[in-house]
Amino acid sequence: MYSNPFVLTFALLVSLPIVFLLAPRILPPRRTSVPISLDDELDDISLFNRAVSLSSSNANNPSKVFHLSSSKNPKLKLAFLFLTNSDLHFAPLWDRFFDGTPANLYNIYVHADPTVNVTRPTSGVFRGRFIPGKRTYRASPTLISATRRLLATALLHDPANAYFVVLSQHCIPLHSFRYVYGSLFVSSTFDLTSPESDSVLSRLGVRERYRSFIEIISNEPRLWKRYIARGRFVMMPEVSFEQFRVGSQFFALTRRHALVVIKDRALWRKFKLPCYKDCYPEEHYFPTLLSMADPDGCTKYTLTRVNWTGTVNGHPHTYRPAEVSKELIYRLRESNQSDSYLFARKFAPDCLQPLMRLAKSVILKD
Ligand SMILES: *[C@@H]1O[C@H](CO)[C@@H](O)[C@H](O)[C@H]1NC(C)=O
Ligand SMILES: *[C@@H]1O[C@H](CO)[C@@H](O)[C@H](O)[C@H]1NC(C)=O
Ligand SMILES: *[C@@H]1O[C@H](CO)[C@@H](O)[C@H](O)[C@H]1NC(C)=O
Repeated sequence: MYSNPFVLTFALLVSLPIVFLLAPRILPPRRTSVPISLDDELDDISLFNRAVSLSSSNANNPSKVFHLSSSKNPKLKLAFLFLTNSDLHFAPLWDRFFDGTPANLYNIYVHADPTVNVTRPTSGVFRGRFIPGKRTYRASPTLISATRRLLATALLHDPANAYFVVLSQHCIPLHSFRYVYGSLFVSSTFDLTSPESDSVLSRLGVRERYRSFIEIISNEPRLWKRYIARGRFVMMPEVSFEQFRVGSQFFALTRRHALVVIKDRALWRKFKLPCYKDCYPEEHYFPTLLSMADPDGCTKYTLTRVNWTGTVNGHPHTYRPAEVSKELIYRLRESNQSDSYLFARKFAPDCLQPLMRLAKSVILKD
């Protein structure tokens, strides 16, 4: 058929563009996430091992639990973990949030991508709070690593850290520190979904146990696509599809659960594998791990409000200055699962001024 060289050449010329057109469908899609280097992995493992061994030595000797704390009157502390790849735009608002709070009630840790030129505040609550960070990429396992680094550092740094709240530079508080602390540590009625909320002890105002506030969702339409994003059978046998979960990466974990997260090796081995487009490993790793390890110890909802109406490219609605008002703050607090949301995202950097104007009279008013 192609005996005539002209016909052969013609056939080749015609088929070339067809090959280019079809190539993206025939070849596997481009992997979007960057593998984590062995050096970074080894650094992390040694940090996590130190945190785990300190915690187990404390567990064997309860009298030692507070021995690293400089305070003479140790209290349970709230650890605030900020994960950022830009400046901390709302630092002045957070300064106000912590203003006047005794130092023995909280700690702050910041993980910033070292390849980005993040301005380190020289005053205020973020001064000197930056931990050694590594590069992070959106929608990749590097965000899991960064969060685990924050958890391990906070576990190691202060045995009094009892709740670990993960936030970003786009998050704002919706209440005063006193309200947040009281809701997490003291209130027996804050969590409306608590199985013990109508128990005798709880009605007497006694808090029986602490649960992690982490969103855990199993009926999300895109779950299957995300599950097979590394290949059809790759997650087996560690994680079956029935065990796979999704939820926000902004959560508040108990110390017990923070340890579960940094002790984990089995699930991390799977979730760190490069995956195809839109797989958001940081939204799956934590809810899947904790729902497998201790489902009853988790509230299954988050305390950080986010607005997914009109989502673009995986980003939630970003509030602009014109939208910031007293009414917005009140609306963002409304929750069906707890007395109130405690934090909200996502706010554009230039919302700082309108937010500061509401700080005293609305946001931080009890
Ligand atoms: C980082 O930011 C500082 C202050 O804004 C600036 O002086 C410096 O040139 C920046 N460096 C890089 C590498 O962008
Ligand atoms: C959520 O965002 C949409 C715009 O995408 C806006 O119309 C709506 O008012 C927002 N809801 C809240 C509670 O802020
Ligand atoms: C609370 O539940 C009601 C009824 O299901 C729903 O309309 C509303 O959007 C929920 N509010 C929030 C903040 O989720």
